This record gives sequence, structure tokens and C-alpha cells, in this order.
Amino acid sequence: MKRGTEHFIAIVLAAGLGKRMRSKQPKVLHPVAGRPMIQHVLDLVKGLGADRTLVVMGHHKEQVRTLLEGEIRDGKIEGVVQDPLSGTGHAVQVTRPLLAHYHGAVMILNGDHPLLRAETALSLLQSHRAHEAVITLLTAHLENPKGYGRILRGPEGQVTGIVEERDATAEQLRINEINTGVYVAQAGSLFELLKEVKPDNAQGEYYLTDTVCLAVQKKLRLLAITATDPNETLGINTRADLAKAEKIIRRRIADKLMAQGVTLLDPENSRIDATVVIGQDTVVYPWTLIEGTTQIGEDCVISSHVRITNSQLGRGVVVQDHSVIAESVLEDHVSVGPFAHLRPGNLLRRKAKVGNFVEMKKTEIGEGSKANHLTYLGDAIIGKGVNIGAGSITCNYDGVKKSQTIIEDDVFVGSDTQFIAPVRVGRGATIAAGSTITQDVPPGSLAIGRVRQVNKKDWARKQKQLHTRKLQSKKAKKKG
Ligand code: UD1
Ligand code: MG
Repeated sequence: MKRGTEHFIAIVLAAGLGKRMRSKQPKVLHPVAGRPMIQHVLDLVKGLGADRTLVVMGHHKEQVRTLLEGEIRDGKIEGVVQDPLSGTGHAVQVTRPLLAHYHGAVMILNGDHPLLRAETALSLLQSHRAHEAVITLLTAHLENPKGYGRILRGPEGQVTGIVEERDATAEQLRINEINTGVYVAQAGSLFELLKEVKPDNAQGEYYLTDTVCLAVQKKLRLLAITATDPNETLGINTRADLAKAEKIIRRRIADKLMAQGVTLLDPENSRIDATVVIGQDTVVYPWTLIEGTTQIGEDCVISSHVRITNSQLGRGVVVQDHSVIAESVLEDHVSVGPFAHLRPGNLLRRKAKVGNFVEMKKTEIGEGSKANHLTYLGDAIIGKGVNIGAGSITCNYDGVKKSQTIIEDDVFVGSDTQFIAPVRVGRGATIAAGSTITQDVPPGSLAIGRVRQVNKKDWARKQKQLHTRKLQSKKAKKKG
């Protein structure tokens, strides 16, 4: 879609209480596909090239402002405070001082509409222009219109008004054409109409929808466009709506990835955020979560029950079942899992292998190095071609501070080794299994840090004899 082809100012309404969510968090901050729902709306207006974007805040405005802080600072978004919260009409009215001399088009969107597509919003804008309408609204036909404002039409099919569910008659409630809450309007005329809106309704609020009725009375040019995909128009008012939106948006993401050449073995059951990038011919198994800024290269395999968050994976990476990867970088052909836990800050170089029940944190592991079984690596730098034996651990925390373990290239670490950090193992050294390494190991040396074994000859046979003799004497005493 071309940016900037249509000039308009976007007004995003995000001040409402969101009572029906029953949440401590403002409704518009609830995430859908990993992003606060208002971000989806803001992405859309940004994509359309809005000349300015005004966000109306009220309920929990500090939290909404914090989310948008960067864009407000850069002047990309202008925050407007609505106080008190007197309805959607009032919410638009509070933007008036910022639009005093503006007579162009405003697009009004609800912050609780994360599924609206840019194509639909753009066609609304273009139709509005083409028909020189004063207000253009987007409607939809829903099987279940519950909760939405209903579109009233006259005998010739012309829109005559919008009635909110709470103010509707039983007959009006049967109408299944609804107001989506997306409008394009001529700014000057809209503000004039808003002046006349009265709060005489069930909620005692100033309804934006009443401007439509007023426009009809004044015979102003009104246009109603019907959305072809009713899914797009879902407004989130309850947790159930949130779950519905999540499902729809996840499916959209899955369809997009599949169109780009990613295999999703069970698209309904992979949860991938909208922000994730996945390369061609990568295969994703069911029951996976791929989140945040994660980027996955081509030809990777992401097995079941895997969670990857804010990480970068190169080409041909294999992540086996039940692995958790957070804020880590995995270069090409790395293999992880099953049951591996990569906590933040790891760098796994090409062809490194991290296997069963291995936990890592702030650790770099060199090209082709392996830690295959039951290992903890924290605050470590491990060189190339290193083999870390089963059950080895870095003792990186002494109760006060964290210290580093450095293992240079081509070191062989025998199983069950403990590295008491800070400690450095020189290139090509070998650590004997079961060692506790407390001192640096010079390159090429063998380090053995364990108690020397003592074998007591014939000990087991003698113990048995002793035991039998004791038993016999006990029995003899009882008889006597
Ligand atoms: C609104 C419409 C309804 C439409 C529906 C679509 C009105 C009166 N009703 O109803 O016709 O079918 O959206 O989803 O407009 N807001 C403010 N300040 C306020 C009140 C609300 O900024 O004082 C914001 C909310 O944060 C929300 C949006 O406006 O993003 C819509 O508010 P909401 O309470 O969800 O309205 P609905 O009852 O859904
Ligand atoms: Mg709503």
C-alpha cells in the first residue's frame, strides 16, 4: 500500500473505562498476538500515512502514555486527555483545540479494534473523498450483533441513524447491521454537529453516533460502506472478545507465514506473534510459542512445546521438543534440546550443540562446541571445539557476586566437573571427570581436582563375615 496518497488526520479513541473487561489494566493495553491492541490500530494509521495521529486518553492515561512515550516524544503521536469520560462524542470533541483550523478529513477509530485491515480503512477514506461525504461510516452484518450499535435505515435503504444496544427497542435489537465504530468525517462539520449532541440516553453520555442522526436531520451527505469481512470489525469489550480476536489474528499471521514458504504443521496450534520473522522452508511443529522480536532463518526445525522469545536464529537451526529460548542468538546450524533452557544473554556460535536438560545464561559457546547433557553454564565464555561432559556446572555465584568461567578452544571437560568461578581453562586442556576446578588450568594440561580413590582389598567379604558372626552370637544368647 502506498503511503501518503490520502491526506487525513487520525483520531484514536482510547480513554474509555473498558468496564466489561473487568481488569486492572486499561483495555487498549491488553495484548492481542503479543502487542497491545491499540498498537495494532496505530500501526494501521501509520501504514496509511496519516498526517497526524491524535490519541485520546483518560482512564489509566499514565499507562497508555507510557506505552506511547517514544512516539509522543518524537511528535509522531499527540496525546489528548479526556476528563471526565463522558462518551465517544465527548472524546472526539476534546481534540478540537488541536484541530482548530483544520477542515480536512479525520478518520476516527476505536482503540479496541485491532483486527481492522488497512485496505478497508483506505477504501473508506477513498469512498469518502469520491462522494464528498460529510460523514462516512463503516458498517458490518453480524450473525450475532449483540453489544454493538445498530444501523437504522429508511424505506429506500438510506441510513437514518444509529441506536446503541442499551437504547434500542426489541425490534431494533433484531437488526444485524452494526456500527463498527470506524468513521471518516469532515473535521469542521463534525465538530459543529458534536456541539449539538446531548447526553439523553441510557448511559448519560455524549455519543459520537448521534452525529450521524444529526447529519440525517440536516440533510448532510452521509455514506455507509459495508465491510466484506465481519471479522475485521470485532470490537473488544470482553475477555471473550479478546480470545476471539486473538484466534483470528493468529490465523492471519499463520496464513501470511505459510504464504511466505514456512511450514506450520498445525497452524491452529502454533502461537506466533505478528512481529516474528521466519525464513523459507522452516518447519514449525504444533504447540509452539514464538514471540516478540524473534527472527528465525531458513531451513530451521522448531519442534513441539518450544517457546522462543526475542531471539535470533540463523539458518538450519534445530530446536528440539520442550526447549525454552529467551533473548539469545543462535548462529547457523546450531542444535538445542530436547529440554534445554536458554535464559537471556547467550550466543551460540555455528554448529554448537546444547542438549538434554542444559541450562544456560549469559554464556557464549564457540563454533562446534557441545554441552549435551545435564549442564549449567552461567556467565561463561567457551571457545571452539570444546566438549562439556555430562553434569558439568559453572559455580558462578558465591552468594554475593557473579564471576566468569573462561574455557578456551579445544578443551575436553570430563563429566561432572564443577568450575568454581572466576576460573580460566587454557586451550587444549583436559579436565578429568569429577573434578572441582578452583584454579586456572594452563593450556594443554590435564587437571584433576578430586579426592584420590582408595581401594580396600577384600573389604566386602570381610564385612559380610563380620555381620554373619554377629547374628550367630545373638541367636546363641537368646537360646541360652
Ligand atoms: C461503540 C459505538 C457503537 C459501536 C461500537 C463498535 C458509541 C456511542 N458507540 O460502542 O455504536 O457499535 O463502538 O465497537 O460510540 N472511549 C473514549 N472515551 C469515552 C468512551 C469511550 O475514548 O468516554 C473509547 C474507548 O476507549 C474505546 C472506544 O472509545 O476505544 C469505544 O468505546 P466503547 O465503550 O468500547 O464503546 P462501545 O460500547 O463498544
Ligand atoms: Mg467497544
